[in-house]
Amino acid sequence: MRILSWRLIVALVIGVTLVNVASSWYEVRSRKDALRSELERKAGTLGQSLAATAQLYLQAGDRDGLEEWIERFGSSENLLGIGVYGGDGSVLAITPALNSLMPGLPRILTDAVQANRPENNYMRLRFRRVYVLAIPLHGPKGAIIGGILMVHDTAYIRNEIFIVWGRVFVRIMLQVLVIVAITILIVRWSLTKPIARVADWIKALRTGQHAPPPTPGDMDFLLPLTREMAPLARSIETARGAAATEARLRNANESEWTAQRLAAHVRSRLQGSSLFVVANREPYIHNWRDGEIQVSVPASGLVAAIEPILCACNGTWVAHGSGSADTQVTDEHDRLQVPPDEPLYTLRRIWLSAEEEGGYYYGFANEGLWPLCHNAHTRPIFRAKDWEHYYNVNQKFADALVEEIGADEHPVVLIQDYHFALLPRMVKNRLPHARIAIFWHIPWPNPESFEICPWERELLDGLLGADLIGFHVRAHCNNFLNTVDHVLEARIDWEHFSVKRNDHMSLVLPFPISVECCDDTAVRPETDVADERRAVLKEAGVEATYIGVGVDRIDYTKGIVERFQAVESFLERYPGYQGKFTFFQLGAPTRTHIKRYADFQAEVEAEANRINARFRRGRWSPIVLLVRQHSKPEVQRYYRIAHLCMVTSLHDGMNLVAKEFVAARKDERGVLILSQFTGAARELRDAIIVNPYDIEATGDAIAQALRMDVNEIAERMRRMRSTIREHNIYWWASSLIGTLCEVRLEQMEPAPAPANDRANDRVTVGI
Ligand code: G6P
Repeated sequence: MRILSWRLIVALVIGVTLVNVASSWYEVRSRKDALRSELERKAGTLGQSLAATAQLYLQAGDRDGLEEWIERFGSSENLLGIGVYGGDGSVLAITPALNSLMPGLPRILTDAVQANRPENNYMRLRFRRVYVLAIPLHGPKGAIIGGILMVHDTAYIRNEIFIVWGRVFVRIMLQVLVIVAITILIVRWSLTKPIARVADWIKALRTGQHAPPPTPGDMDFLLPLTREMAPLARSIETARGAAATEARLRNANESEWTAQRLAAHVRSRLQGSSLFVVANREPYIHNWRDGEIQVSVPASGLVAAIEPILCACNGTWVAHGSGSADTQVTDEHDRLQVPPDEPLYTLRRIWLSAEEEGGYYYGFANEGLWPLCHNAHTRPIFRAKDWEHYYNVNQKFADALVEEIGADEHPVVLIQDYHFALLPRMVKNRLPHARIAIFWHIPWPNPESFEICPWERELLDGLLGADLIGFHVRAHCNNFLNTVDHVLEARIDWEHFSVKRNDHMSLVLPFPISVECCDDTAVRPETDVADERRAVLKEAGVEATYIGVGVDRIDYTKGIVERFQAVESFLERYPGYQGKFTFFQLGAPTRTHIKRYADFQAEVEAEANRINARFRRGRWSPIVLLVRQHSKPEVQRYYRIAHLCMVTSLHDGMNLVAKEFVAARKDERGVLILSQFTGAARELRDAIIVNPYDIEATGDAIAQALRMDVNEIAERMRRMRSTIREHNIYWWASSLIGTLCEVRLEQMEPAPAPANDRANDRVTVGI
């Protein structure tokens, strides 16, 4: 760093000096020119007046008078001497100083007389710099009768120029001092200290200690370096975590699913086949922010589950390109390689016009199918125009998928959710050799409810193009099979959960989705949690002893209003908790272009305000509503400090918030209050299960949670964590893909599951 500082300082000093000298040289030059002009002007005026007087003396023939007069003028300021010469070149009168400097007839005078005009020049006379002016003298009729010579001392001009250069020197010295000081400070602040911090961080990583990564301020112009370092650090941490987990699993003789195990498992199942995933949401979104392209990963369980598989087998993810900068980063085939840090698979983006998005996504998918499949008392809206867009967009995705699959002989296709009910059939018709699964992430209603959709036949037929149709829970599979039974000509095999239609068989099986669970390293001490809780309350400007948390998209299926009313009922009936219990609701705005969603958000805010106005006192409020997108680490922070978490969905396929809360509680604290209408309630039996429509009972659940014995809390949490650990997101993905890879396409009859495959224990696999 010292060498760099010196190099920087020397370079800056040379640069500053050169610039200063160049600009001062110009200044000096101008000053010198100005002084010379002034001298020439003054000398000219004086010369003319002296010449006139000398002419008078000469015309009068008064040589004594001339000599006397010359004596008088010869010693004025800067005038070194005067000489008057006759027409024949003889010296008529001369001051002694001039006589000693220029004895005889000076050449300049001869030139002036010959040219009959004044001549001047700067010259050196015996080491003196002088200015010489020669003027011809005339008789009464204009004839030249001689000349006058004046010599001025110009030493004062040199002195003046020296003074100017002196000032320049002082200025350069001052600037150099300032530059050296600033350079040293900048090097210290922006280089030495940040590099020391980054080095400490790298050292901590290397030695396996936890150290906070350097801040953006530290990075500054080390950014390109740290951009590479951050993923490297993550990879080291992941590798260390995986190694620790593997070691723990080996020790405990368990077979927990990890990203690595999933990748290896799927690679062996695919046996060289390629995997293609289709989902409406993309795993990486590029947006313009502050004039720069920034990439973000949606906080989605799906990305965590699917990404390791795609990375392991170089797969392709086809998705709607919805980011404002998405088009900037794709190639001419609308593809890019991801993850950005370590490209391992292809993301193919599909572009939709605003009209297509309006009809397919907002309209048919979210105003039609979403309320159709959720019993949440919002009437589905079906418009012919939306259906047309839904059909066309599914077709667009099918075209892209077929293009991506190309000549692949054994493609495996995993389609996600209700946005693509028609896609399985569209692809199967064109590529019968493709193995296709669709996973329906939301509930499936009973046949009577589903029948209100004017395009029920088309949707069911589209889905039955898949070889495997997955739901979260058995009840949704049953509803689906019943609906098919009601609506289509098809053979349902209730024993093997399959549908045979037009010689094609589809398996219909439950695969309960889950979260990454569970990292049990380094449980934070209780004092840390208490500090964090205090910090969260301080940020919200609230004083409370107990904290509840809810985390949702602001969707009418989530039971948020009912949850607030349960908090109200609890405070009303357990007044001892007034002033002590605060419920934090993290609400992410969603699908706000749809009126029902915009209205619902207003309703949620109004309800929170009403309850707060009723109970608020001093610095305590019953509800803190935080309406914005929260990052994964932010949400985790609330999970970790909450005494209880409320999931009160009116209907939900699974609900991953419930599982995320459990996964986050390494400390085995915190109580989960869970709606009986979620898929998660079938697995997390140690939650306090509630009917969210029963406001008082849900309020009682809050009291029960806050009064629960700490041993019971730990016992329940331990059991729930063990459930999720066993059936985590990697288990889900491996079951789904494993089952799909077992489907025998050419022989459509179901066959038994392999006996040694744990992943398939929970589902009856038809092959
Ligand atoms: C539900 C759906 C997902 C969807 C998510 C977020 O969980 O099953 O497919 O991605 O909501 O909704 P959004 O409309 O923002 O994608």
